[in-house]
Amino acid sequence: MALRLLLLCFLAISLATSEASHDYGDALKKCITFFEGQRSGKLPSNQRLTWRRDSALKDGSAAHVDLTGGYYDAGDNVKFGFPMAFTATLLSWSVIDFGKSMGSELEHALSAVRWATDYLLKASATPGVLYVQVGDAFSDHNCWERPEDMDTLRTVYKVDKDHPGSDVAGETAAALAAASIVFRERDPAYARLLLDRAMSVFEFADKHRGAYSKSLNSAVCPFYCDFNGYQDELLWAAAWLHKASKQRAYREYIKTNEKVLGADDTINEFGWDNKHAGINVLISKEVMIGKAYYLESFKLNADTFICSLLPGSSHRQIDYSPGGLIFKTGGSNMQHVTALSFLLLAYSNYMSHSNQHVPCGGDVTATPARLKQIAKRQVDYILGDNPMRMSYMVGYGERFPRRIHHRASSLPSLTSHPARIGCKAGTRYYLAPGPNPNLLVGAVVGGPNRTDSFPDSRQIFQLSEPTTYINAPLVGLLAYFWAHP
Ligand SMILES: *[C@@H]1O[C@H](CO)[C@@H](O)[C@H](O)[C@H]1NC(C)=O
Repeated sequence: MALRLLLLCFLAISLATSEASHDYGDALKKCITFFEGQRSGKLPSNQRLTWRRDSALKDGSAAHVDLTGGYYDAGDNVKFGFPMAFTATLLSWSVIDFGKSMGSELEHALSAVRWATDYLLKASATPGVLYVQVGDAFSDHNCWERPEDMDTLRTVYKVDKDHPGSDVAGETAAALAAASIVFRERDPAYARLLLDRAMSVFEFADKHRGAYSKSLNSAVCPFYCDFNGYQDELLWAAAWLHKASKQRAYREYIKTNEKVLGADDTINEFGWDNKHAGINVLISKEVMIGKAYYLESFKLNADTFICSLLPGSSHRQIDYSPGGLIFKTGGSNMQHVTALSFLLLAYSNYMSHSNQHVPCGGDVTATPARLKQIAKRQVDYILGDNPMRMSYMVGYGERFPRRIHHRASSLPSLTSHPARIGCKAGTRYYLAPGPNPNLLVGAVVGGPNRTDSFPDSRQIFQLSEPTTYINAPLVGLLAYFWAHP
């Protein structure tokens, strides 16, 4: 009894100290600012990360189209359409579910969505064609160059009816549909354009089925190869189109193709490659709040997924590091942390609205409060409550990664070094032991290894590289915890 009291006391103290310790508003602001550092194309006058300048202003010229703009995916200078579209979908979902908690940051979040969707609109402007990548990834990765200096091959890659890409086209349709919800009341004409385009891109994706990893294998693999197949993206796109348009056809598509496209594969993953858990959580909202009971099977899958994250549950499959971070093998672990935590938080809100809880076997029950607590613990880990006692977000807190694997951040800015730095001339900056000269504010890196260690080394890109799809779901998480600390 005494021991139990002592433990309770200890728990109360540690909860109290961690509760007061984070400035979620500051972290949110930085999390969104990061996207400005990833911008490609002509930068606007209100650009806040001013060490970045215009870049890749001729993108698309190889195919006589305008493909300027969009985001570099990570620490390199390639514009990969597949993860960029996923980033836009998740940024949009963040705004849809948590925009009302974003306060003055909402405007910046909307700009971050629009920077991606403006580009996706250009990439999908020709019916039956979708431009899915600008930049030869091998040529790019062979150099350590500022985007402003780039002289690597800006090859343009596309999918069309003879070279299908239902994965990348499905994700692009999902992004455009999700963003149409974001802008529906804020800019109706833009929202209409996004939704119309989402519909035609989906039609193309569904009619000409195939994987872009096959059509464009040598360009996209192994970088953003769709290892998992294109079926999930078709369902994912239909789910977003249904949410955006409420058209019966998409609902029927989901029902008809549920088995064919493997919606019941209970794969507990969510990322640029694999949409399964996301599909089930998204459609569960229709079940729990919209009372679409004919989609109940998706909620059952989502329940299984939620339980797979609950410590102590007999369904638990997803691992945690000794320090408490969700951990999956394969590098860039933080993408799983933020994406899975986002789903937990979104699901917890849908459950609260409909007064639900989910039994997870043993004596473990998934309640909305429990899911929020797990998601918050992950966010707090990122912000500094971890064995390294450091934040994994650049510029947040006192200790954070200083040697991120990022070309623009690690090379001197144009202001301090106006002369060109060529492909191989950049190598010395890559190998330099010191910190990066330019702070890529808000960048969240791949994160610590399985035993919670972080070497802060530019060369270990699996741990030190930021990506747009790590930050996109974190925007929603931080907004929620800012409003509900
Ligand atoms: C994590 O990194 C630390 C320090 O760099 C190292 O000692 C440890 O072996 C690594 N753990 C794993 C599982 O790689």
